[in-house]
Amino acid sequence: QISAPFELVLFGGMGDLAQRKLLPALYLLQRDGRLPEGKIISVTRRELEHEDYMEQVRKALTTHVAKEYLEEAAWTEFATKLQCVSLDATDESAYSVLADVLAKGDPNRVFYLATGSALFSPICKGLKQTGLIGSRTNVVLEKPIGHDLESAQAINRSVGEYVDESHIYRIDHYLGKETVQNLLVLRFANSLFESQWNQKYIDHIEITIAESIGVEKRAEFYEQVGAMRDMFQNHLLQLLCIVAMEPPAKLETDAVRDEKVKVLKALKPIVGEAINRNVVRGQYDAGVSDGKPVPPYREEPGVHHKSNTETFIAAKVEIDNWRWAGVPFYLRSGKRLAERACEIVVSFKEIPHSIFPLQHKSTMANKLVFRLQPDEGVRLMLCEKRVGPGMSVRPMNLSLNPANHRKARVPEAYERLLFDALSGNATLFLRDDELHEAWRWVDPILQYWQDVDLRPEPYTSGTWGPAASTLLLAKDGRLWVENS
Ligand code: BG6
Repeated sequence: QISAPFELVLFGGMGDLAQRKLLPALYLLQRDGRLPEGKIISVTRRELEHEDYMEQVRKALTTHVAKEYLEEAAWTEFATKLQCVSLDATDESAYSVLADVLAKGDPNRVFYLATGSALFSPICKGLKQTGLIGSRTNVVLEKPIGHDLESAQAINRSVGEYVDESHIYRIDHYLGKETVQNLLVLRFANSLFESQWNQKYIDHIEITIAESIGVEKRAEFYEQVGAMRDMFQNHLLQLLCIVAMEPPAKLETDAVRDEKVKVLKALKPIVGEAINRNVVRGQYDAGVSDGKPVPPYREEPGVHHKSNTETFIAAKVEIDNWRWAGVPFYLRSGKRLAERACEIVVSFKEIPHSIFPLQHKSTMANKLVFRLQPDEGVRLMLCEKRVGPGMSVRPMNLSLNPANHRKARVPEAYERLLFDALSGNATLFLRDDELHEAWRWVDPILQYWQDVDLRPEPYTSGTWGPAASTLLLAKDGRLWVENS
């Protein structure tokens, strides 16, 4: 439940994320009757008349919300909550304009900082000095927070001077995806899977976040970060934590976070020469994507023509603990890949001996596949008898999503997370130590790349990434799931 009246202030309020994800998610919450009385305030640097602002929000919704959910009545109700405030976040004296439009006292209030992390501390300082951070105020921080361990620690320390850790909500929108929460339920509400969830029965696990889009209009940002900081340090490692963590004692914020931190602390460090063996770095070249010819990364607008920023990363990761010793986790993410797909594939061990003639044992290994996008769902890959004479065996996909389940609208990740932030539930947000542990593991790899300064391996747009990515698994006698 969101306690009313709420106040949600979006810094970067008319930026790319706000228009593509945040405002559409808020509208959908409104449409579903889950947003009580309250205010949504977009903060921007630009001077924007109310009518122009409303026009832009409406346009964003028309572009980013599916037509079937655009309803006049919901929009009218939503529109009464919207407001825009022009403010230069670096000017400490400017925050009084916000005080003028916010309620006095201590209401249910959320500041969502969808800005670069360099602005987090100045914004929190401005808010604190203006008396806008009360005991019921939560502050949401968008990723990436910092660019390495040291900078992340500095930002957290400095934000912590103005906001208590219990009110800091570090967002990773992958944790808001429906299938990620379903993964928790499948793991911890079924003895069937949990009893098999360890090195005795699982051979390896793949986690893929593949995008078909390129760098789009975000070159200025992306050139500074690359795939490691944009996707791996956060989304991929968070998915890894959810798959690998021990059962928390309770479904409570710190109980869950404690278990995730333990996974991050148990990650086997990859340093020195081992980086070349276990981590693949790629950059997209020209090719065909979604049926259209596309340019190489180095020729995208805003990208340096000799850029060594990686647009693809794959890594073999190991977790040094009792549950996972010897089980490789293969993680990868890239832009301009063959299709948009995010999947977690849990591959169980092969049967010890096949009694069926001419049958490859490896085709008989069961797999449990969690699909996060473009559609969400879970399927179990089993074997069955081919109908007819003989005893030939064939693979069979058992969908764990019944038809009526599939018909329900799957909420967007940001709907879930905005709702949680407004209702004070921080379970799906990161604590400072989680973030630090993730950076601690990633840092030596980033440092090594910076020192050697080599061009990432080029790959043709519209493929599954560089050849070295296929080799990473082939060396272990395995294949990525799309090749098997
Ligand atoms: C963001 C990255 O965090 O996630 C983007 O900055 C990426 O580069 C996006 O495109 C992918 O999110 P989703 O939910 O569309 O898979």
